[in-house]
Amino acid sequence: MKNKIIINKEFVLGTIEKDVWGSFIEHMGRAVYGGIYEPTHPLADETGFRKDVTETVRALSVPKIRYPGGNFLSGYDWRDGIGKDRPVRLDLAWGQLETNEVGLHEFCNWAEKTGAEVMMSVNMGTGTPKDAAQLVEYCNHEKGTALSELRRKNGREKPFGIKTWCIGNEMDGDWQICALTAEEYGRKAAETAKMMRRVDSNIELVVCGSSTPDLNTYPEWDRIVLQHTYDLVDYLSMHRYYTYPNDTQNVTDFLSSHTDFDAFIKTVVAAADYVKAYRRSKKRMKISVDEWNIWHTKPSPNGLDVHNDCNEERWTKGARRVENIYDLADALAFAGMACTLINNADRVKMGCLAQLVNVIAPIFTEVGGGLFRQTIYYPYQMAIQFAKGQALRTVVCGEKMESCYGDTEKVYTACAYDNGTYSLFAINKTSETQACDLDFQVLPARMIERIELSGGLHDYNTLQTPDKVIPKNVACDRGTKRIHTVELPAYSFTLIRFSEEK
Ligand code: AHR
Repeated sequence: MKNKIIINKEFVLGTIEKDVWGSFIEHMGRAVYGGIYEPTHPLADETGFRKDVTETVRALSVPKIRYPGGNFLSGYDWRDGIGKDRPVRLDLAWGQLETNEVGLHEFCNWAEKTGAEVMMSVNMGTGTPKDAAQLVEYCNHEKGTALSELRRKNGREKPFGIKTWCIGNEMDGDWQICALTAEEYGRKAAETAKMMRRVDSNIELVVCGSSTPDLNTYPEWDRIVLQHTYDLVDYLSMHRYYTYPNDTQNVTDFLSSHTDFDAFIKTVVAAADYVKAYRRSKKRMKISVDEWNIWHTKPSPNGLDVHNDCNEERWTKGARRVENIYDLADALAFAGMACTLINNADRVKMGCLAQLVNVIAPIFTEVGGGLFRQTIYYPYQMAIQFAKGQALRTVVCGEKMESCYGDTEKVYTACAYDNGTYSLFAINKTSETQACDLDFQVLPARMIERIELSGGLHDYNTLQTPDKVIPKNVACDRGTKRIHTVELPAYSFTLIRFSEEK
């Protein structure tokens, strides 16, 4: 049966903020050491960062990068990463050695080279509200205080001017160093926010929401934390990773993860709106999905090791940690998550693909060697480039299929409308070609470009075969019509761009 997809520019969901397409670098595994930073690499610049990695991140136009954690954050003292004497510490989050060669200045200088803003996080585990406020002062206060003068002495005369700050990381998880109850965290986050804002009233703050819907504190955690912090913060964060559900290798279930992701976002929004109503507030809480991705903790059907064991190479610097190698199925499930962010653009105003290099990442490097782009790189790149402007609500009329998340569409879509151009993202989640009528209803449109990611479901890229799974331009019918008929190949992700014609 043919699917009908309605694209109507009057069905506006909301503005897609560019910060939705941010990413994340944590002091974890080979993200920093042996990833972005490798002073002995032939392509290292004068500061020890790999020029090929910097250039790849820059070319991707990542708008914002969250730093320095993640779970690492909750045992980290930012003072260890400034000045000349850098202590070597045990990182209790990931069982690694932290040499502190890379700290605040090194990371911010690198981010500047990539063109990305820094989204800084403050430690709410072992850290105090005072540590957090002092970090804001160190980074953003111009001069004349002990901390701002220390920054200047350490080589940065002008303030870093960091705008976005996360108050801790996943404080609801028992895996977190010094995890807190919702009441404890809500109070601590509120007092921290107050102090940080008094140092710099221009900053925006993100408070920890639920780190996963799998914890039994969800969604009460979100409600309680917001009861304490609603007026003091700008964003409520949420994190979500998907793998094959229920320990099966059922592809339909996996590719339908977007259904669950959508429900998670809507529940977090509902918890925030409950607090809004309870407090008679006029403010609409924004959502920051500041960790999202595919993460297999056990070998996925492509059979590759995932390095999920934190006892591997314990207490070494740059040990391998969660280095998933992604196949086409992963890219399709990932694209589903990206489409869900677009489809919730009215509330999701910030996001971070976790992570950017080596650790569950789109960019993969070898120590002393080259780099390659993983399958998930491509839907991420297309989202950064084309998912902007207004998100339109698309309607898919077609046969549904069963999944562990309930009945779900065979073709999942999202659409951005920017300056007279539509970018339609479509995932065919089935093993058959899906014929679709794309119905523009209001005005005819001209197809201008069609890009497709398809192939063997478990194909993946490597250093030796970096182009096994890459997007291909597909010849498109450039006619101007109100209804365009297209065929989406089995298990594929397609971007079709149209210009509006009057
Ligand atoms: O991104 C990897 C880890 O996942 C982060 O450190 C943590 O916040 C989450 O559990």
